[in-house]
Amino acid sequence: MNAVNAPNLLVVYHSVDGHTARIAERIAQQLRTGGAIVSVAEASVAPSPAKFDVVVAGDPIHAGQHTKELTAYLTEHAAALRQVPVALFQVSLTSADRDPEHQATAGGYVEQLTSATGLEPRLVARFAGALRYTAYGRLKRAFMRRIAASGGHATDTSIDHVLTDWDEVDGFANDILQLTRSLAI
Ligand SMILES: Cc1cc2nc3c(=O)[nH]c(=O)nc-3n(C[C@H](O)[C@H](O)[C@H](O)COP(=O)(O)O)c2cc1C
Repeated sequence: MNAVNAPNLLVVYHSVDGHTARIAERIAQQLRTGGAIVSVAEASVAPSPAKFDVVVAGDPIHAGQHTKELTAYLTEHAAALRQVPVALFQVSLTSADRDPEHQATAGGYVEQLTSATGLEPRLVARFAGALRYTAYGRLKRAFMRRIAASGGHATDTSIDHVLTDWDEVDGFANDILQLTRSLAI
């Protein structure tokens, strides 16, 4: 791909504690390495999807649902998003466990989002997130420690724990590049 026919991609995300922002940046970096022109924007200030060849959208699960910020973006731009291929990624603690029950739960969150917004993503990825204990306030840290303990996850609150498989994130970015090439932009 050269600069003349390089695809123009938008990565739109929302992040509560910062980890999804890191994943969004990692995806953008991989896409750029693959020759794409990439804009990264937080959902509440992101541009319309209309002028992009592919849109990548992602946010975390908090309290059993996708964020209202990304949901609002997908709802506001639903018509434009029907004209553009979308790759959706979800970040959660649920996806740190790959057994069928946890996968079904994480898949259910995707369904909630797609039925609320009418989004029809061409690609969907569900990544394990992070326990950012050092970034949480006292109550949130205690709450998340309890949740983590009940799921058999890390409970040392003196450090953060990243559960994300970065190879999986890179693989998703590569799938997006492949999708982009198949569109023959
Ligand atoms: C207050 C709180 C509630 C959460 N609720 C859920 C949940 O219901 N289900 C889940 O799978 N993960 C849950 N998580 C885990 C987050 O999805 C995970 O920490 C993710 O990395 C957060 O991304 P962010 O840093 O971009 O906000 C929760 C995390 C926090 C801090």
